[in-house]
Amino acid sequence: MTSQIEKKSRDFITTQDWSQADLQSMLDTAAKLKESPYGEDLKGKSVALLFLNSSMRTRTSFQVGAHQLGGFAVVLQPGSDAWPIEFETGKIMDGDSEEHISEVAKVLSRYCDMIAIRAFPKFKDWNKDRTDYVIRSVAKHADVPVINMETITHPCQEMAHVMALQEKMGDLAGRKYVLTWTWHPKPLNTAVANSSLLIATKFGMDVTLLIPEEAYLLDPQYMDAAAENAAAHNQKLTVTTDIDEAYSDAEVVYCKSWGALPYYGDPTAEWELRQNYRHFMVDGPKMAKTKNALFSHCLPLRRNIKASDEVMDADYCIAIDEAENRLHVQKAIMSHLIHPE
Ligand code: CP
Repeated sequence: MTSQIEKKSRDFITTQDWSQADLQSMLDTAAKLKESPYGEDLKGKSVALLFLNSSMRTRTSFQVGAHQLGGFAVVLQPGSDAWPIEFETGKIMDGDSEEHISEVAKVLSRYCDMIAIRAFPKFKDWNKDRTDYVIRSVAKHADVPVINMETITHPCQEMAHVMALQEKMGDLAGRKYVLTWTWHPKPLNTAVANSSLLIATKFGMDVTLLIPEEAYLLDPQYMDAAAENAAAHNQKLTVTTDIDEAYSDAEVVYCKSWGALPYYGDPTAEWELRQNYRHFMVDGPKMAKTKNALFSHCLPLRRNIKASDEVMDADYCIAIDEAENRLHVQKAIMSHLIHPE
């Protein structure tokens, strides 16, 4: 593995680090892999998949994807079937963690050609979690490319989402895209919502963020990045609390539930707010206000909580296509990281 140590390729931590042209190149590779799934791009290569949180789609699609390209994926669940890891610098490690990421990342870099990690935020201190310090510390210490399998963004989901939209709509520039907050009984990660704004604006869509009230605004680092992406395409990022205004003329409705950041770490207080907004669930009457919009969600999804059966079973729901595309885009991402142009 000497060559990896000498020359580290780029990480895939956020799509903001990559140009639209770079991302489109990966999407084009993904489309080819969808037509012809097997190859040797990862022959003799391996990827370590570190899961600090549960997964169905991400784990399966990365493992199957590596296999289909002739590579190998090893799944590690630190704290379960691997030693618990400390990610903070300078910590006196007298808690549960048995080793530090500085050793873990270096050792995995000697065995594997890429390291991917899923590390959800801890839901205690947003000022800390918003730095994405877990994956940043992996990248700092790894000698091989690092892939984000969902932290406070979910770039692999973004790529699968935009691939599904391009398959159905072609060029996305200027098309009205709505990210709507939706009901869920618990405050969830903002990652997919952040990612939705980043990728839709990166590809020049006319993006509206629909939230119940100001407390559900996303972190300014993502609101600002999305606004800058939009401005680069002569578009704007619209924010509204008006359901009719948002759905009117929408061509894409993407839904996600997330926790109100001012109440981060205090789910009881957040509940007092959240309980008023069950009516944000995506349903048939809301979709009827759109311009025959496509609907999607990253999954997993609680039916008749986040979106109704009618919506999930409709022809306009492309959530399964998006989930399938996780396989194709992740193969393309791994291939591009292993074989940079
Ligand atoms: N959408 C997604 O990442 O699914 P999993 O949590 O099942 O991996």
